Amino acid sequence: MKTKLILGLILFPTLAFAWPWSIDMVNQPSIKPQEGVMTPFPNRSVPVSGIPTTVSNRDEAKPLTSPIPVSDASLNKGRTLFKIYCAACHGLTGKADSPVAGKIGAISLVDDYVQETLTEGWIFGTITFGSFVMPAYGKPRGRDDLRGSNDLSVEERWHVVNYVKHGLLKDAQASGTRTASAK
Ligand code: HEC
Repeated sequence: MKTKLILGLILFPTLAFAWPWSIDMVNQPSIKPQEGVMTPFPNRSVPVSGIPTTVSNRDEAKPLTSPIPVSDASLNKGRTLFKIYCAACHGLTGKADSPVAGKIGAISLVDDYVQETLTEGWIFGTITFGSFVMPAYGKPRGRDDLRGSNDLSVEERWHVVNYVKHGLLKDAQASGTRTASAK
């Protein structure tokens, strides 16, 4: 009997794997395909082609005002994001004192033009859709020339706007003189 079984297994090796316990390893506490409700992907782990921005260009954004109240928390977030995303061109305190500012024409953001003339919404729109040279930060392919990314969420963009309008000038003054054209 025993010899027959051994012989059988040698002749038909597939039989050796055909026992219920042969697939034990499959039965783990892991989630199988199509099983249960899918957990949402962690924030930003999957690239998406667009984030909810209600306006479709800078002109539409112009009349908007920041929906996020100016607070220390908002200014701190805005400052951090500004240093990451804007300082390379506009300078650490926005005075157009970065090494490349002159070469690409990045303007000072502490001058009256930005501080007083431009609306919060226009600055939001500039960050979202880019400008002439400046790339877009709010919408992938936000410009016709396809230069852009979706790096900054709507909320983050408003933190940056709050900082540009309500924190940048103070930081710039604390760090030294303003540009010649500013008052
Ligand atoms: C790659 C360089 C670069 C980066 C990074 C950059 N900018 Fe600019 N930005 C420019 C240049 C160049 C101009 C002026 C020419 C233009 O309008 O494109 C400008 C213009 C602006 C203007 C004036 C727009 C107008 O209507 O005149 C604002 C406001 C501004 N930037 C804000 C920001 C903010 C906020 C950030 C960070 C989220 C940022 N920029 C990041 C290059 C840059």
